[in-house]
Amino acid sequence: MSISMWVFIMFFTSLEVCGQADAPESVRVMEGDVLRLHPGVPELKQDVQILWSYERDNLSTRVAQIYQGKIYTSYDERFSGRVQLDRKTGVLTISNIRTNESGPFEAFIVINTKISKRKFSVDVYAAVSSVTVRQSTDCPDCCGVTEALIHLVLAGLMFLLDLV
Ligand SMILES: *[C@@H]1O[C@H](CO)[C@@H](O)[C@H](O)[C@H]1NC(C)=O
Ligand SMILES: *[C@@H]1O[C@H](CO)[C@@H](O)[C@H](O)[C@H]1NC(C)=O
Repeated sequence: MSISMWVFIMFFTSLEVCGQADAPESVRVMEGDVLRLHPGVPELKQDVQILWSYERDNLSTRVAQIYQGKIYTSYDERFSGRVQLDRKTGVLTISNIRTNESGPFEAFIVINTKISKRKFSVDVYAAVSSVTVRQSTDCPDCCGVTEALIHLVLAGLMFLLDLV
């Protein structure tokens, strides 16, 4: 990690950030999907700077940045080759997202001298195989053929008993 990077991060995190310190926006995405985070700025002008950061084990690292009109997406080798940043919208996309990449993401948006911050709480859930989904016995539709037959037989018996 370069010193200038830390200076940059400390600069941003120590600043009184404009706007409400609202709760992070929750984003749920399935493992292997594309994570897409919107910085919430309607239109990016030439002079906008955006820094996207990712936090893990209390360590904040840069993931991508728009700086002086240029896009930088290869700061963090853990996301290597999977990060894209859209110049027009500032949207961050990370393809093939992993469960170990859940956690807080933040966008620092600088327009002229105004800085705003947007927090995201990203939850990457594992793709669940349909076979392992619930093996509970409380759902009659899930029971095996034998049980289904027993139910049928019992129902038949009840029917007969009713007739008697
Ligand atoms: C992160 O910081 C919090 C509070 O400062 C601490 O309780 C926690 O143990 C830290 N986690 C790690 C992984 O260092
Ligand atoms: C998550 O794990 C994958 C390998 O399973 C690795 O390539 C990736 O860099 C990890 N991501 C983070 C943020 O540690």
